Formats: sequence, structure tokens, C-alpha cells
Amino acid sequence: MYVIAHLSDPHLDGTDTARDRLRSVVGYLRAFSRPVDVVLVTGDLADHGLPAEYAEVAAELDLDVPVLMLPGNHDVSAPLRAGLPVDSPGQGHPVHQVRYVGEARFILLDTSVPGQNHGLLSAESLDWLSAILDEPVDGPLFVAFHHPPNKLQHPVLDQWILQDAEPLAAVLRDRPITAILTGHVHNAVATTFAGHPLLVAPGIRSTGPLPFEPAAANGLVDVEAPPGLALHVVADGQPLVTVYRVVPSS
Ligand SMILES: [Fe+2]
Ligand SMILES: [Fe+2]
Repeated sequence: MYVIAHLSDPHLDGTDTARDRLRSVVGYLRAFSRPVDVVLVTGDLADHGLPAEYAEVAAELDLDVPVLMLPGNHDVSAPLRAGLPVDSPGQGHPVHQVRYVGEARFILLDTSVPGQNHGLLSAESLDWLSAILDEPVDGPLFVAFHHPPNKLQHPVLDQWILQDAEPLAAVLRDRPITAILTGHVHNAVATTFAGHPLLVAPGIRSTGPLPFEPAAANGLVDVEAPPGLALHVVADGQPLVTVYRVVPSS
């Protein structure tokens, strides 16, 4: 068995509110009788991309298991590279990574567009991804990035998802991918993309109600809804199982 704790969107900003919500989730993980194999955080690590915020992210996610992190639209490449243990070729933007943790391979894509809320992958990034996917793989393979390509039928959030997704679908289709893992929309979502499971972790910092749900008290995001995470469980010869958990924030 191999277990991924999939967190997203802590948006650390130096406030107790943001820090306490992440601490609730991390505290929950620390209490496991069997530690997860890896923690994956799918972006919006910092709220403003500031060096001090990345120092806070590094301190709060200093765990006894490997922690993989990738950027979201609130992150900034240079301070993220300087402040966090990412392993990405080149400098600046984008921050793509290929990481092995135990038996699993993770391709971590940077879908952010500096200064923009929406996501986009350049032709160069897609060529890089295609070449990585050409390499033989023997074990679970996850492709993770911040911006999901699927609409939630939400008039605001749908403007900020991954744009021009068909070229990405063409690269991912018919590859031996276990699942695609994303964040960004601050909702726990299960759907498909390019014939693969697409699993979205809830937002630790807040939740974005759908238009037909009871509205959040202060508009777009509900900052009172408790934080949560996804647990992706891989077992030999069995389909991937994902459990979503809500963790009360102290
Ligand atoms: Fe976010
Ligand atoms: Fe985001």
C-alpha cells in the first residue's frame, strides 16, 4: 500500500488564521499510526509569493515524510525556488519537476502564468512533458499541477481554470497515468481528463461554494468551512481509491 496525502491552497500569509488551518491538517497527518508515504501540496502555498511566506511554508511543512510542492497562481517562481526544496531544472519560471518517492513517480507541472489567475502550459512545457512521459515507468505515475482544466459551472472560478487544455489532453491521453492531481478551485472534486481520473484537493484556506449552494457570508469564498485534504491510496492490482477528509480547525 502507498498513501499520498494531497493538500492544496494553504495560502500562508503570516496570519494566525491561515497558519492554524494548515496546522490542523498537518496535525491530523502527524497522528496517523502509519505515516503517509508522501505529502503533495498542489499550489497557492503562499498568498503573495513573498520570501517570508515561503519560510513559513517550509517551517509548517517540515515533516518526517517527503513533501512535494508545486506553484499556483498566488506563488512567485524566484522566491519559491529560493525558499522551498523544489528540484526543477533552469531558473525562474516555470518550475516543473520530476520526483520519485518510493515506488511512485510524480510529474509536477507549473501551470501558473505570472500575474494572472488562470493557468496555461506553453508549447515548450508540453514538449517537455511529452518527453518525460516517453520514459519507461514501472509503478504508479501521477501528474500534478495547480489549475484543473474542467469547469465547475461556476461563473467566477471557471474563468481561472487551465486554458487551452486540449493540447495537454493530447499529450496525456493513452499514457499509463494513475491519476491527475490538482488544486486551485478550493473544492474537493472527482472527475476525469484525457481518460484519466482527475482528483482535486479541497482548499485548506477556504472553500468556494457552487452557485446553487448556500452563498458564503462574504461572497466568493467561505472562510468558515473547515479545511480538508485528499488521501490517495494505491494498492497492488487494485484501482486507485481516494478518501476526502475534513479536519476541524482549532
Ligand atoms: Fe488558491
Ligand atoms: Fe489558485
